[in-house]
Amino acid sequence: MRPRRFRPAGALKGRIRVPGDKSISHRCIMLGALALGETRVTGLLEGEDVLATAAAMRAMGASVVRQGEGTWSVHGVGVGALLQPRGPLDMGNSGTSTRLLMGLVSSHPITASFAGDASLSKRPMGRVIDPLSQMGASFEASEGGRLPLIVRGALPAVPISYRLPVASAQVKSAVLLAGLNTPGITTVIEPVPTRDHSERMLRGFGAELNVETETDGTRIITIRGEAELKPQIIDVPGDPSSAAFFIVAALIVPGSEVTIENVGLNPTRAGLIEVLRRMGGSIEELNPREVGGEPVADLLVKHSPLRGIEVDPAIAPSMIDEFPALFVAAALAEGITVTSGLDELRVKESDRLAVMAAALGTVGARIEEREDGLVITGTGGEALGGSAVTIATHLDHRIAMSMAVAGLVSREGIEIDDTRPIATSFPVFEAMLHGLAA
Ligand code: S3P
Repeated sequence: MRPRRFRPAGALKGRIRVPGDKSISHRCIMLGALALGETRVTGLLEGEDVLATAAAMRAMGASVVRQGEGTWSVHGVGVGALLQPRGPLDMGNSGTSTRLLMGLVSSHPITASFAGDASLSKRPMGRVIDPLSQMGASFEASEGGRLPLIVRGALPAVPISYRLPVASAQVKSAVLLAGLNTPGITTVIEPVPTRDHSERMLRGFGAELNVETETDGTRIITIRGEAELKPQIIDVPGDPSSAAFFIVAALIVPGSEVTIENVGLNPTRAGLIEVLRRMGGSIEELNPREVGGEPVADLLVKHSPLRGIEVDPAIAPSMIDEFPALFVAAALAEGITVTSGLDELRVKESDRLAVMAAALGTVGARIEEREDGLVITGTGGEALGGSAVTIATHLDHRIAMSMAVAGLVSREGIEIDDTRPIATSFPVFEAMLHGLAA
């Protein structure tokens, strides 16, 4: 454990550039590892989760080499040519690595075992085991469909048409990636749109992938298998989910004015900004442009008095990782914020509804925990209580960073039990926060 107390340190001022997008970084390495030739990546997130993906792709035959800060070169083996890994694949804390790689392995003649840390070993894998079994793969999982588990890939795998029972980009991506080496057309039907980085990048690498949107918003995604991927040059945009902590920090700490450069603003990821603006937050988009096939802008964020609102559950998928940060903003807003439709938060790196309710409750916020959301009565900007109690983060990086931000508007600071998990997604978080406060 590496505990740390986060204290109020005055207004946050300056410019930062958050690290590369975690979802996009995973996918660059996976698709690069399946393309024949060299894929060059700049701006790659060098967090532990992405490094777990890199190690797994190396174990299955690809060359994945770091050439400088965020600059990586990947030489792929070609779709269908992944090698049998010699040992178990260590997924660490990373659900994305696990679920997407289970998809890849499922249509290759490979048997791979997946293991992870205590947090990952509690998370449900049945959601990918179901469709991948239909495609012909077989599984030996721990109780409840959990890690550690073994995947036996099928050759040839069978193309399926799969309607997502949960709004999950990981499940969608697992099926599409399995579809890459499956003869014929694999179809994913997505009633509620989730992040579309896999679709964008598969197309970018030359896969035959089509998306049709029906009048009710349902997306029908098809991919033609036995694809040949062409290597790419990719610049990874900054991660909006990492920017989220600094957006909220700048909004709640009086006198703050922060510019966050190069933030990815893919509409399937940008829900938090819309919600915070509705709460009265001043967030300006400067210099809009495209990076790595994704919309990007610099964000100018100024301290703003926030008002509680009712958050439309329909926006949840586009800010699914940002709720812990939003709950902190809500705890400092004027009035009541109501959130609902958030059952998925209970199966993230931790049960984020229970853990954030407990954490914010500990520092004196008024929280009602419901089955599928939190109702938060804010302080109207008044500092949160100092607390003698240490906040339990349950190996969840986003809980740690959210409560670190809450500590900036507390009377005596907030003590976090363990800051190590922050390195899974945002290794420079603490240094960046320190830099802005200085
Ligand atoms: C991710 C999808 C989301 C998100 C996770 C990253 C991805 O998970 O929470 O951090 O890269 O596809 P779900 O698919 O479980 O919603």
